[in-house]
Amino acid sequence: MKPGLILGIESSCDETAVAVVDVPGRKALSNAIASQHETHAKYGGVVPELASREHVRNILPVLQRALDEAEVQASDLAGLAVTYGPGLAGSLCIGLSAAKALALGWGLPWIGVNHLEGHLHAAFLEHANLDYPFLGLVVSGGHSSLYAVKGLGDYQCLASTRDDAAGEAFDKVAKLLGLGFPGGPALDKLAAQAPASSGPELPMALMKDGSQDFSYSGLKTATRLKIEREEPKDELAKAVLAQSFQEAAVRPLVKRVLEAAEKTGYTQVVLGGGVAANSYLRAELSRQAAGRQLSVFLGSLPLCVDNAAMIAYVGGLRLARGESSRFDLGVQPSLALQGKL
Ligand code: KG4
Ligand code: ZN
Repeated sequence: MKPGLILGIESSCDETAVAVVDVPGRKALSNAIASQHETHAKYGGVVPELASREHVRNILPVLQRALDEAEVQASDLAGLAVTYGPGLAGSLCIGLSAAKALALGWGLPWIGVNHLEGHLHAAFLEHANLDYPFLGLVVSGGHSSLYAVKGLGDYQCLASTRDDAAGEAFDKVAKLLGLGFPGGPALDKLAAQAPASSGPELPMALMKDGSQDFSYSGLKTATRLKIEREEPKDELAKAVLAQSFQEAAVRPLVKRVLEAAEKTGYTQVVLGGGVAANSYLRAELSRQAAGRQLSVFLGSLPLCVDNAAMIAYVGGLRLARGESSRFDLGVQPSLALQGKL
């Protein structure tokens, strides 16, 4: 057995993922993933029932791949970590059941991990100089929240979406522009073809009541109405629209991060979730952070999207401080991340 070598399992949405992580070395030895995008593409969104069935099919082959790629055996592992929420109930059940069975069969300690806590820690696996405290922006198909991360298990949610998540809005607008599912990456590429921006004409994805929160439903509707009105046909017209939407979606995120940095005095910011791959968000945040003494830790794509390495890392830290889960732990689809945990 190698101390600190943890196997992670993630199945909260439509990715079946298993990873082996050397936690003290802050290194993912493998980060295997089976994506279900093809299964859900024809429905234009994730179908929970189909997601569960795909997890059942994929979980053991992906586990085998993660062990093979890391060149480790079960007997090398020091523990297991698994996402138990938030996410789709049926999807979470598959990963959690698999983890319990493996922990029992292999005689290993194990722990349930909050998916959002995982996203906030993925950057530790790529940036040796990252340390607490930092600001963490998690933007994905299911979440859009900004946290002050004071330490492991100490989180303050500073802003979050009141309605749709940023990724959901990207996917919806991409669908309206005929870009397929999930359309975020295609919309990003299309927007880059538009000429230099003349500023967003669409409403910013912010609450109008003066709160710090984000709101994507108004922007989604305004974009849909604009598309219906203008009926963009050629690539250029679509690109200009994609760019306007992208700016209105991303600028509020950057604005809240900069305000939070000023307020807390924190000097580091971490991006997580699939939308963290957005090239405009990455460029705009980096540009605005330069000259403000704010270091931006941008993860690589495999560690930004849903993955099991981030779950293994958080689980390993928690196991090392003496925590573990009991076999009667259930899935928690609406699990929050706030306060001291
Ligand atoms: O974190 P993730 O893989 O899964 C969860 O939703 O938890 O995030 C997927 C989301 C999708 O909505 C996808 O369209 C969006 O991230 N996304 C992007 C980009 N790449 C992925 N959105 C905007 N720009 C991108 N480059
Ligand atoms: Zn996620």
